[in-house]
Amino acid sequence: MTYKHTKTLDIAKDFILPCKKDDLDTIKQFLPIDKPDFDGSFLSSQLLYGKNGNRIYLLGLGEDKNSVQLEETFRKLCFDTKKHWDKSIQVYAEDLNEDEIRKAVIGLEMAQYEIGEFKSEKEKQNKTTVSFSSTKTIKKLLDEGKYTGETINKIKALVDAPPNIKTPEYLGKWASNSAKDADYKCTVLKHKQLEKQGFDAVLSVGKGSINKPVVIITEYTPKTSKKVDIALVGKGITFDSGGLSIKPSTNLHYMKSDMGGAAVVLGVVELVAKLKLKINIVGIVCSAENAVDAESYRPGDVINSYSGKTIEIIDTDAEGRLVLADGLSYAVKKIKPEYLIDLATLTGSVVRTLGYHAAGMFTDNEAMANTMSDIGYKVHERVWQLPMFEDYESDLHSDIADIRNFSGNPLAGATNAAKFLESFTENHENWMHLDIAGVSFGASPYAKMKSASGYGIQLVTEFIKSKASK
Ligand code: BES
Ligand code: ZN
Ligand code: ZN
Repeated sequence: MTYKHTKTLDIAKDFILPCKKDDLDTIKQFLPIDKPDFDGSFLSSQLLYGKNGNRIYLLGLGEDKNSVQLEETFRKLCFDTKKHWDKSIQVYAEDLNEDEIRKAVIGLEMAQYEIGEFKSEKEKQNKTTVSFSSTKTIKKLLDEGKYTGETINKIKALVDAPPNIKTPEYLGKWASNSAKDADYKCTVLKHKQLEKQGFDAVLSVGKGSINKPVVIITEYTPKTSKKVDIALVGKGITFDSGGLSIKPSTNLHYMKSDMGGAAVVLGVVELVAKLKLKINIVGIVCSAENAVDAESYRPGDVINSYSGKTIEIIDTDAEGRLVLADGLSYAVKKIKPEYLIDLATLTGSVVRTLGYHAAGMFTDNEAMANTMSDIGYKVHERVWQLPMFEDYESDLHSDIADIRNFSGNPLAGATNAAKFLESFTENHENWMHLDIAGVSFGASPYAKMKSASGYGIQLVTEFIKSKASK
C-alpha cells in the first residue's frame, strides 16, 4: 500500500470516516443522517454508499481507552473489506492525533500480511493508495507508520516460517539482507568463529542439529561517539524440540516460534535504522536449533560458556537461557552498552502466570521498569514486572559446576530463568529481561491456527526513541 497526505477530503469518492463512540458529530458533518444506527464501538464498521455509488466506511474507534490499540480497528476493516477497495481510498484524519495517525497506518499495513506464503496458489493483492486528509503536517507520521507496519509484517513472516526453512543460517541471511537494505552493519558468526570466540553454550545447544548455530551481530551506530547506547539480545531457537529432555508432541509444531525474541531484535534494528533515529544500537541474536541426535547435549553434561562460567545441564529444554547467557556475556564484555535488554520466548511459566496479555518484565532498575511499563500501555504491548529477589538464587546452585540451568523444581519458572540470565550480566545496572513466551505467538481473529503477533516491535522501538537524541 502507498500512503499519501491530502489537505481535503473528496466526499464524492471512497472514504473511511473514523468515529469515536457515541460521537455522531463527525457523521453529521459529512452525511445528512440525523440518527445513525451506528454507535462507533471499537472494531465496528458500517458501509454506506454515497451519491456517486462511492463507498463510505464508518469506522468505530471506540472509547478514549481504545486509542492505544487503534491499529486494530483499521486492521480489521482493511482485512475484511480490502478486496472491494479500488486503486485509492481516503481516510478522514482531521480528528486523529499523531499517535492515532501512525497507528492507523500500522493497522492498514498489518492487514496486508499474508500468512499463506507457502501455499501454491496465493491470493491476489490490490495495490491501493490510501490518502489521509488533514490540514496538519502528517507526512512523517505516514512514513513512520508504514515502516513500522512493514517491519511488523516481516518479523511475523519470520516467526510463522516453517523450521525446515528458517534455520539459524537463514536468520543470518535475513539480517545481512536487511542490513544492506536499511544501511547498517551485520556480522554473522558461524560455527568456526563461534568455537574460536568461545560461544560454548550456543554451540552446546546446537550440537544435535545439522543446521549449525550462528550468532548475528547487527550494528546501527549513526552518532560520532562510538559508545553503544542500547544493546538488544534475542533468543533465536529456530525449533525447540526440547532436545533429549524432549517435549510432548501436542503443539510441538508451534515451537518453530521459539525465535520470537530474535525476530524482535532483528526487526527493531532494521526499523530504527530506517527511521534514522540518533542513537547507537547493537542487536545480538543467538540462534540454534534444539534437536535430538546422537550428538545432542545431555542432561547431566557440564558445559562451558562465553563468560567462562561452567553450567550443569539439568534439562536440555531450558536451552534459551543458555544461548542468551552467551549473548549477554558478549554484550557486557565486548559491547558495554548503556542499556541492555534481552527478549526471549523463555518459559512456559510466564504463560501460566500472565497468559497472553503481557510480557514478563525482570529488572532491578525501577526507572527503566517504569519507562517500559508506560510505553507498554501506550503501544498496547504491555509488560508486567515479576520479582528478582535474591532468595531465588539458591535454586541455581550446582554441586559440580558454577551454576545449573534448572532447579528441577517446577516453581517460579520465569523468575528462575531470569535469575540465571542475571548471573551472566556482570550486574549491569540497566539490564532488563522480557519473557515474551505468552505474547509473541498465539490465537488471533486473522488466522485459524496460532500465529505470530508482532509483539515487541513498537514497545522496544518506542523505548529506543525515548533514549535517542532529538
Ligand atoms: N521455548 C520454551 C518456552 C516456551 C513455552 C515458549 C511455551 C513458548 C511457549 C523453553 O525453551 C522451555 O522449554 N522452557 C521450559 C524450561 C524448563 C524445562 C525449565 C519451560 O518453561 O517449561
Ligand atoms: Zn526449551
Ligand atoms: Zn525454547
